[in-house]
Amino acid sequence: MSDQKRGMHGIWAGRWTFILAATGSAVGLGNLWKFPYITGENGGGAFVLVYLACILLAGIPVMLGEALLGRKKRMSPIHTMESMTDETGAPKFFRGIGWMGALSGFFILSFYSVIAGWALVYVGKIASGAFVGINAEGSGAAFGAMLADPVGLTIWHTVFMFLTGAVIARGVNKGLEASLRILMPVLFVLMLILFGYSLTTPGFMQGFHFLFDFDASKLTTESIVVALGHSFFTLSLGMGAIMAYGAYMPAKQSLGKTIMWVGVLDTAVALVAGMIIFAIVFSNGLEPSAGPGLMFVSLPIAFGGMPGGIFFGTVFFILVSIAAWSSAISIAEPAVAWAVEKGFTRLTASLAICGFAWFLGLGTVLSFNEWAEYKLFGKTFFDTLDFLTSNIMLPLGGLLIAVFVGWFMSSDMIKNEMKMKNDTLFNVWRFVVRFISPVAIALIFINGLGLF
Ligand code: PFF
Repeated sequence: MSDQKRGMHGIWAGRWTFILAATGSAVGLGNLWKFPYITGENGGGAFVLVYLACILLAGIPVMLGEALLGRKKRMSPIHTMESMTDETGAPKFFRGIGWMGALSGFFILSFYSVIAGWALVYVGKIASGAFVGINAEGSGAAFGAMLADPVGLTIWHTVFMFLTGAVIARGVNKGLEASLRILMPVLFVLMLILFGYSLTTPGFMQGFHFLFDFDASKLTTESIVVALGHSFFTLSLGMGAIMAYGAYMPAKQSLGKTIMWVGVLDTAVALVAGMIIFAIVFSNGLEPSAGPGLMFVSLPIAFGGMPGGIFFGTVFFILVSIAAWSSAISIAEPAVAWAVEKGFTRLTASLAICGFAWFLGLGTVLSFNEWAEYKLFGKTFFDTLDFLTSNIMLPLGGLLIAVFVGWFMSSDMIKNEMKMKNDTLFNVWRFVVRFISPVAIALIFINGLGLF
């Protein structure tokens, strides 16, 4: 592949669009739905601390590396990694980073769309007043009934995948750039309102302690592996999404500052979502370890009992859907950009990629009902895809990117692209990405293999 395809997808128009787009990609179901429930399953505070360490020592340094690679080549991650590997003379297998990323993206998109479909269902349910005055038991039963119906789940999975494909087909710039400017601030304001509400609940402090009290005895190998995997998932790393978005970034923008912003915003959203949800969980005597249903069972109870709950609840689930939507687009973008570079139209590429992901998503739909008893290593189809991507493929992608950027790109090459004025910061980052990130990821990874 020659470099003649460089820049063919366009450049973000606004100075802040990369931050908006990358934050739109990062903030999604991972923050609002997955972070609270895996924190609950893994015992709370100790898990959160390991997660924060992973964000700082592996996530943010790798994110900078990904954006850097993308902007340098201005092509899809697959072609970027092929071209960079040849240019730097790195071992040939680094060319495969982009390919593995596209495969991870395809897997993630398949189940992400099904869960986003749940959020769409909840928009309708809450708006219709179905949750007014509901108790914990009723809310749990409503969630269970939704999962038991494969046809309903498939319909909403289809709707969400269609919405995703429609935006991708039109080009990310046009659809997203305008809408994100409005939607992301609204998301933040709504979270603050809900946070204010959670402060008034009796369980707030208990939830707070659950999230932030460090209890080393609760740390297990599995929880460390999950924390690492989630730090990649939540920052959209290890599969090329940030690399693809970096390719559309104006040349002058300082990479370091921009990436810090994305990392901080994403982490803040996750922590606030955790505080809101656990306040409600403890106020209502719910189980923090309830699993994937946590957000869908606990929040409706709060909305059902608060003044204006129908309004806030409806808007909240619309925003969850939108946050998921802006993430889903970024999951598909690397593969679509590659296909476009190969000569397909965006429409054909989007149809094919979303179509395949949709089909695979039917496995996730069935794993909550008809196939619930079929398990591989004790995991359902959905659990297997989730584990494989978050805990294996994304960290492996991140490890390879850290090694590539840290060991095969020269300081000059990086500095030219990064435009970082502060040498000390540059040196700290380079040290972390060369030594700390790869070693930490590798160690956690090797330990985690024993989990099979
Ligand atoms: N970061 C998204 C979330 O937290 O929901 C999920 C995601 C988006 C993962 C893009 C991977 C990706 F490339």
